[in-house]
Amino acid sequence: MRHSRLALATLAILALTPIAATAQDTSAPHLEKRGAVTQLIVDGNPFVMLGGELHNSSSSSLEYMKPLWPRLAALPLNTVLTPISWELVEPTEGHYDFALIDGLISQAREQHVRIVFLWLAAWKNGVSSYPPVWVKQNTERFPHAILNGSLSTTLSTLASVSTALREADAKAFTAVMHHIKEADNRDHTVIMMQVENEVGTLTDTRDHSADANRAFASAVPSELPKYLKAHRETLNPELRELWLAHGEKTSGTWAEIFGDSSRADEIFMAWNYAHYVQAVTAAGKAAYNLPMYVNTWLGGGDGTPGSYPSGGPQPRVIDIWKSAGTALDFYAPDLYQPNFAEWANQYHRPDNPLFMPETNGGTAGAAWVFYAVGEHAALGFCPFAIDAAFAPDAAHTTEPSLVDFIKGTTDLGNSYTAINAIAPILLEQQAKGNVHGFNLTKQHPNVEFTMNNYSVQISLDQIFGYQSDTGYGLVMMTGNEEKTGQAEFLGVGKGFRVIITSRTPGKHIGFATIDDGKYEDGKWIPARRLNGDETDQGGAWRFDPRAIHTEKATLYRY
Ligand code: DGJ
Repeated sequence: MRHSRLALATLAILALTPIAATAQDTSAPHLEKRGAVTQLIVDGNPFVMLGGELHNSSSSSLEYMKPLWPRLAALPLNTVLTPISWELVEPTEGHYDFALIDGLISQAREQHVRIVFLWLAAWKNGVSSYPPVWVKQNTERFPHAILNGSLSTTLSTLASVSTALREADAKAFTAVMHHIKEADNRDHTVIMMQVENEVGTLTDTRDHSADANRAFASAVPSELPKYLKAHRETLNPELRELWLAHGEKTSGTWAEIFGDSSRADEIFMAWNYAHYVQAVTAAGKAAYNLPMYVNTWLGGGDGTPGSYPSGGPQPRVIDIWKSAGTALDFYAPDLYQPNFAEWANQYHRPDNPLFMPETNGGTAGAAWVFYAVGEHAALGFCPFAIDAAFAPDAAHTTEPSLVDFIKGTTDLGNSYTAINAIAPILLEQQAKGNVHGFNLTKQHPNVEFTMNNYSVQISLDQIFGYQSDTGYGLVMMTGNEEKTGQAEFLGVGKGFRVIITSRTPGKHIGFATIDDGKYEDGKWIPARRLNGDETDQGGAWRFDPRAIHTEKATLYRY
């Protein structure tokens, strides 16, 4: 298989990092702890996913997708998040149809684009519109949830306590993973799997069906309090506070351990969904072990569970999900909120790498992608309904974020191009903990951080009374004075300026050189030597607000 952009990245990384070609190179895509971060390894090399998620129904038709792939590949992204559904894979029980999956893999492969498949099965956005009809209509075998005292008359929501549903879902997912392994074990076009989509119970804090009520009145399964005890010091602070406030009990019913409130209901639902999805994931992984995750419809502030899907892996119940199993590799936010950084901080934990399966595209996405991969070593960044840019009818929507996305596709593409060009260095420096990313606005005009012996101040670009409205990018330390005798920094982005000072008392430093340039096939090609106004007469390392630049700076002492 030829993956042109990825092949370039591969060549470049081999030039930069002496990663020995091992048996690992032929192994399936997987996650690996490398230095300070967890990275996605594809074909033996770390991979940063600059992606986009298709709108929900696009990938249900190969004909529909055919003209879209070349346009997606030109964006330029390296991965497309592609829904596949239980209803189309198993239209009648026990009879699988993999034609769509095969077709999507070969269409993506032709365009040298990778795929993350989204397994839309028992639940999507909290409800059950994607299971086959033979599942939805057999309410005796596959019970529905009772919400607000009754069965919903419009939207069906299958009950997460149902063993029969879990087993049927797991069986179909296992067949899918077995098939993907057969079809793709060599080429690794498929690099990750999302299991279900935004699970959780909507409109009510919990399911009140007879089975759910019985489980709620019973003792909490022992794995959960055992986990809380073992991880007492690192638990999410809100969960810890709630547990401690009710006496830090290690046995009892849900209400006894967590109090009789909507918070206990949410924890109960989190356990049920987690128990279900961990089991489906484990079954799929036994057939083909790709990285797998669950995505989250984020609840806002103090919103009541049910106003967002109750039980989905919100930050405060990620530990509950973890207590129910270890098959899932991580939990991911669908991050559309304006307070992007706050949510990103909550999902990036030592035991949870950050990944955005859904987020805003357009001008917002063009900026946030730098923060995500620079500040949080995100595994990937994927604006939702990426195909809406080329086929606006696909979206069935006038959502402002999509309208902005269509307008801002060029901005997003420019960010992706710039990050792609430095990807091997970025991934290498992420592992060393040498990268910072930022997104500046008039309300948040500067950031400051330390890098080894230096203080680095970044602010909106300004000169001669002019100030940029926005600025975004990332800065990394690529040369360490103590090791090589020369401090060197690489920066990518636009609309900001950098001032670096020594943290060693009494030492003065200045910029020795600042060069504009680019990376080609992993090789630095300098262009202009920047000086004069372009560096505020040597006082600041500036990034022009009009377009993304890639620049290198070295320091001297005096
Ligand atoms: C989040 C869901 O996961 C997507 O499938 C889609 O429904 C979007 N919301 C719509 O904004």
